[in-house]
Amino acid sequence: MSQPTPLPNAVILVSHDVDARVARITVNRPDKLNALNAEVLEQLERAVVALERDTPQVIRVTGAGDKAFVAGADIRAMQGMSVESARAFASYGAHVFERLSGLGAIVVAEVHGFALGGGFELALACDIIVASTQAKFGLPEVGLGLIPGFGGTQRLTRRIGYGRAVELVTTGRTIAAAEAQTLGIINDLTEPGALTLRVDGLTQEILSRGAHATATAKRALRASYDLPLTSGLGLEATLFSQCFAHPESAEGIAAFVERRAPKFY
Ligand code: COA
Repeated sequence: MSQPTPLPNAVILVSHDVDARVARITVNRPDKLNALNAEVLEQLERAVVALERDTPQVIRVTGAGDKAFVAGADIRAMQGMSVESARAFASYGAHVFERLSGLGAIVVAEVHGFALGGGFELALACDIIVASTQAKFGLPEVGLGLIPGFGGTQRLTRRIGYGRAVELVTTGRTIAAAEAQTLGIINDLTEPGALTLRVDGLTQEILSRGAHATATAKRALRASYDLPLTSGLGLEATLFSQCFAHPESAEGIAAFVERRAPKFY
């Protein structure tokens, strides 16, 4: 087990640690419901940079405290922003989330409490969202005279389709976790006390598969966002074939033939 990587800041707003191929990122500003200001985003980026190096297979993203995953971008910090500084803030937040999203690890948002605005967008930047029944999701920005700025309009549409996304964004409505599950926003719903255990189980399932295979599958899946079908099929064939150059495929196939469990690690 590697020790938690100390961050140089006096206040640890985002912590991360890696243990046996599983990393955890915690947004740690519970007195402000983990609202995202520039400093939190910078620390989040630093954690992501460290995880680009450490290459865990799974990353769990959580918010500190029992009230919120993340209650959004810091509204006070946005008061009086100029057009230029607002653009820089949005571009930076979107950049950090995309960097997190682009990691080879499977990124799991573990959502309890509020996931609003930038907090919902952070969850949407994760591959899989598991939520407790007490979680609440919403993009309330239009109520502030704004729109989502950290990727929400783009990622929510891709996750649940235009019709459902346009309703949530233009009403700014906050929805309960059960509705989020019906809409296809979240992958799984648990009782609050069972959230950690449920994500433990999911994590173990992913860890039992080859790390090269899960990262490569994610790369192919993510490419479907950007590529026309024929190009995506071409990329998939290339990535599929490249798996044969990795020892995981020899082990996985041999294990099937020999009727035993594969030993990837
Ligand atoms: N930005 C800045 N501060 C925030 C925040 C945000 N997005 N969300 C919560 N906080 C702060 C509150 O100002 C309060 O700080 P204070 O104690 O110094 O006054 C603290 O976090 C606790 O929040 P509070 O509003 O007292 O909790 P609540 O349980 O009454 O309400 C919410 C919870 C989530 C409904 C409410 O905080 C809220 O509406 N937050 C804003 C959500 C939002 O619009 N997000 C999108 C931003 S673009």
